[in-house]
Amino acid sequence: MELGTIIVTDGTPSTTDFSFVLKNPVKKGQYVQVKNNDDILFGYISEITKANRYFERAESVAEFEKYSGMESFPSSSWEYVLATVKVLGVFKDNQFQRAFVPPSPGIQVFNADNNVLHTFLGFDKNGLHLGSIEHHDVPAKLSMTRLFQKHMAILAMSGAGKSHLASVLLEEILERKKEDGRIAVILIDIHGEYIGFAHDPVFGSKTEVIDGKDIAIPLKKISPELIMGWLPNLSSPQKDVLRHALLTLKKEKKDATGYNFKELIEKIDASDISRDEVKRALKRSLSELRRYRFVSKKTEKPHLLSDIKPGKLMILDFSTIDSLRKKQILVSLIARRLFNLRKKNKIPPFLLLIEEAHNFAREKAEASEAVSRSIIETIAREGRKFGASLCLISQRPVNLSTTALSQCNTHIILRVTNPNDLDHIQMSSEGIDSRVARSITGLKVGEAIVVGSAVNYPVFISVRDRKSEKREKGAPLHTQAIDFEEKQEKKEKAVEAFI
Ligand SMILES: Nc1ncnc2c1ncn2[C@@H]1O[C@H](COP(=O)(O)OP(=O)(O)O)[C@@H](O)[C@H]1O
Ligand SMILES: [Mg+2]
Repeated sequence: MELGTIIVTDGTPSTTDFSFVLKNPVKKGQYVQVKNNDDILFGYISEITKANRYFERAESVAEFEKYSGMESFPSSSWEYVLATVKVLGVFKDNQFQRAFVPPSPGIQVFNADNNVLHTFLGFDKNGLHLGSIEHHDVPAKLSMTRLFQKHMAILAMSGAGKSHLASVLLEEILERKKEDGRIAVILIDIHGEYIGFAHDPVFGSKTEVIDGKDIAIPLKKISPELIMGWLPNLSSPQKDVLRHALLTLKKEKKDATGYNFKELIEKIDASDISRDEVKRALKRSLSELRRYRFVSKKTEKPHLLSDIKPGKLMILDFSTIDSLRKKQILVSLIARRLFNLRKKNKIPPFLLLIEEAHNFAREKAEASEAVSRSIIETIAREGRKFGASLCLISQRPVNLSTTALSQCNTHIILRVTNPNDLDHIQMSSEGIDSRVARSITGLKVGEAIVVGSAVNYPVFISVRDRKSEKREKGAPLHTQAIDFEEKQEKKEKAVEAFI
């Protein structure tokens, strides 16, 4: 569609900007193209202004108003609309380049061609269909490799649609065909808001939900170093006793099916390499782990080696766990094992999706609260070589480890209004200029901007509706309230009957 004609203004048309007078309506942010010799020049509308020479000079407007008002002048027929365009590049021989020659005044501006736009933005026909782009009928299909290989982050305030977007991502991954490359997904579900996948007719067979309370690992498979990582405040003598006790157990029980915490404590008691105070302090620290009840004799759940499969989703439902420490320890355990298994190529390439990531890779944290941060940072730095990807979801990007966040090469940002968060996002996301930053506060629920390696240019998208059923744990508030009162009444009646 023809949109208008390029005009001469102060300093334009240039290789970076031009303006045109509108013939047909346009929208801010819309992509346009013009023929420039044999190439196609590409840009987006950065601003729209109206002009009318009747109103350009304050003193004449004041003068006219004094006598007869403006009604007697044909002023409306002098109004015209001007669009300013930022040039993005030139499409030539199926490739994009910088523009070296400005477009000529007088030539026609057209709406961008959908196919060219698809290529220009760096979409992939077999990519993950997350939604549509603004103003154009082009589906936003992001290349899976470009999106995940160098990790991604979903950042926004609560209620902006992060979990919704994550669900859309999951649907796309689970629906991929083998020939397009399928990865496994492990999801740390803090609020139990993804369990709908397990009940869905399409995705149910591809989903396994594991209750956080049931997660277990045999003591036999836990190294002394892992425990020391979970208990960073152990003293050196305590560490020695622990290492010694674990290694002795391992040697002695080589042929046994396993051994439990009680046996470890007995070994510590029996150990003669340290004083009793040291042993007592160590046992006190270990009692914390014991209380969390995930160290077993032989039960292993999930069994990552056999349960992680391409095109399958494993949801770890943490909504049943109260202690943040326990959640962090479990994340460190699972992430570490996933990464090790992946390095040995024993499990398929995977995506580890972590909700509330700021709680697991916190920027400033006490050692005891940072147990999962180091493995997340390690995967963020080294995962790419091994096909181990992260998707960090957070409504508190300020608290998220900068090391981890800076390794997330694609950011999908939904609505954010807090100025601190906004500043932080702008600093940590390359490709967010002030234009983009300003638009973030104006985004509506479900609208997002994608920046980074998954796309060639920052692009605004509306996230599509989800296909899977949304099902949340816990009844709605009003049902809970009714339930409570009914139970209470029953109790009272029972008491009355008794009297
Ligand atoms: N793209 C969208 N289309 C339709 N509804 C959406 C979209 N994104 C979010 N919502 C709805 O908005 C609400 C908040 O979304 P949610 O994903 O839970 O936000 P967050 O995880 O950021 O707190 C939910 O009820 C969700 O269904
Ligand atoms: Mg959420």
